[in-house]
Amino acid sequence: MSKNQDLIQRRNDVVASGVGRLSSLTVAQSSGATLKDAEGREYIDFAGGIGVLNVGHGDPVVIEAIQKQAEIMLHTSIHVGTYELYLELCEKLVELVPHGERTKAMLVNTGAEAVENAIKIARQATGRAGVICFTGAFHGRTLMAATLTSKVSYKVGCGPYAPEVYRLPYPVVRACDPLTEDEVAARELQRLREALCDTTSPSNVAAIIIELVQGEGGFYVAPKAYVQGLREICDEHGILLIIDEVQSGFCRTGRWAASEHYGVTPDLSTWAKSLGGGLPISAVVGRAEVMDATTPGTLGGTYGGNPVACAAALATIRQMDALQLNDRAMKSGQRIRERLDALAAQYTQICDVRGLGAMLAIEFAKSNDRSQPDGEIVAAIITTCLERGLVIIPAGVSGNVIRFLAPLVISDKMLDQGLAILEEAIALHALQAPHLNSGL
Ligand SMILES: Cc1ncc(COP(=O)(O)O)c(C=O)c1O
Repeated sequence: MSKNQDLIQRRNDVVASGVGRLSSLTVAQSSGATLKDAEGREYIDFAGGIGVLNVGHGDPVVIEAIQKQAEIMLHTSIHVGTYELYLELCEKLVELVPHGERTKAMLVNTGAEAVENAIKIARQATGRAGVICFTGAFHGRTLMAATLTSKVSYKVGCGPYAPEVYRLPYPVVRACDPLTEDEVAARELQRLREALCDTTSPSNVAAIIIELVQGEGGFYVAPKAYVQGLREICDEHGILLIIDEVQSGFCRTGRWAASEHYGVTPDLSTWAKSLGGGLPISAVVGRAEVMDATTPGTLGGTYGGNPVACAAALATIRQMDALQLNDRAMKSGQRIRERLDALAAQYTQICDVRGLGAMLAIEFAKSNDRSQPDGEIVAAIITTCLERGLVIIPAGVSGNVIRFLAPLVISDKMLDQGLAILEEAIALHALQAPHLNSGL
């Protein structure tokens, strides 16, 4: 049995089956934008640890910060004693993503925990229970986060879920749909206004939580007019707007926050993934008066803002700045989009290319009915990519989307190599558009 097969066998023997496995890939080492499997085979990484490695695998500045801090203090808990790194990171976060005049922050470990805490803050600050979320949303796998999550296969059999959660359709805009961005925005804002009359009273709604670019849901980008309208409706009714930046934050869209593209400031926002450069750390950032409407002891947790993870996050942010990752995301996003647009013109099954900055995706539909998602072709393309040395992952509630989350430090040469593998895989599995097939 090969080393790779052995690892998969041992995983099957000892790891619970509910821990999802996207492929047969094993990993032993990583660097920059590449991975090496247990047998030493190298892969180009377009998954970035599911959007965690914007700064790249093994950045030397991040590693040095981790090593240095590990020797000084591994853990004490912020609830036991105040340490400077926790404060430094909160100070950095409120400087980077201010929420109005005075902003505060708190630290936990994962995206789901950040979401749980944001909801607890919103409920305490408003004295209301209701939360509005969206179809296609993914906010994590803990109870409230899973309740807010839309994709059924991520939550099947895990209920009952938390009460007082109301779901509305996400304002989905796709090239293959008839409505324009503004028309979708107007229709969904109207639907929200109606929901505040026929589903739950605004006086019951603590918060609306939204991803401006849906992560697991398939990289749909909310229209600007919709998000601005959402802000107005929230202000009108004293509802707090929570923007989940767990996947879209820290340079992925070419900004620290996706909300910067919209000119909209949330009351609360959630952060994780690329914030820690590979170590588990997450944050809730919010307006100071909202953050302070909370009773001591109701937020946080034993490990929240662990000193080593704080040191990693601070070094990651410094490196993102020094390496100008926001600019690089805009440039590589442009490069990827041009190639994807060319593919969409060539293949009938590609029904949309979308995203913001370097948070990009292509969607596949059945060739005989473009309203039907085609998850099978995506699975086949991803398997072929893996066989040819490219790690890339799906998204979308039907698994019919391929998303790009390559480390933003990837060189143009490697990006082109990865895209060439993807193009070969698509050529193998997809049908050419009829006008290109006809020989005319
Ligand atoms: C937008 C968003 N929110 C929350 C989460 C949950 O984060 P975690 O897996 O760290 O709990 C994710 C994870 O993919 C996400 O994409």
